[in-house]
Amino acid sequence: MFAVPENTVVLPETSALLHPVRVALSWAADRDRWKHQLRYDPEERFSALVDRSDDQEVWLMSWLPGQTASLHDHSSTTGAFTVVSGSLTEVVTTRIQVVHSLHAGQSRVWGPGYVHQVRNDGVDPAVSIHVYRHGTRSMTPYRYDPVNGPVR
Ligand SMILES: [Fe+2]
Repeated sequence: MFAVPENTVVLPETSALLHPVRVALSWAADRDRWKHQLRYDPEERFSALVDRSDDQEVWLMSWLPGQTASLHDHSSTTGAFTVVSGSLTEVVTTRIQVVHSLHAGQSRVWGPGYVHQVRNDGVDPAVSIHVYRHGTRSMTPYRYDPVNGPVR
């Protein structure tokens, strides 16, 4: 046992206190919460809002082979995404482009000014969970200039 000072404040358990990767991993592991919403759309990458609170949104996405989220940022949001199944390729773009190969259970985080492209280069469909903090899901498109980096 240990003594707890009288002035100790117990913080409420809210999702805002959890790292967005923890939130994404939790949702990824709990398929019963979203499996009824999962679709595969041959026309475009599928996305569905699965949860919204005052401080975050949780989105489910599916990626058929070859489907891409073109180069973009997420405005002022911070967040994370986790690959649930399959594999995704993320290209993080500053003045250079860095490629990350992501497999089930792996996560990436972002913040304001983070510019990336995500795509399914695999031969199997991929599923991912995305958590957006401090704002709604939004994407500002960019193009890559090899001299200047990402340009709106
Ligand atoms: Fe993104």
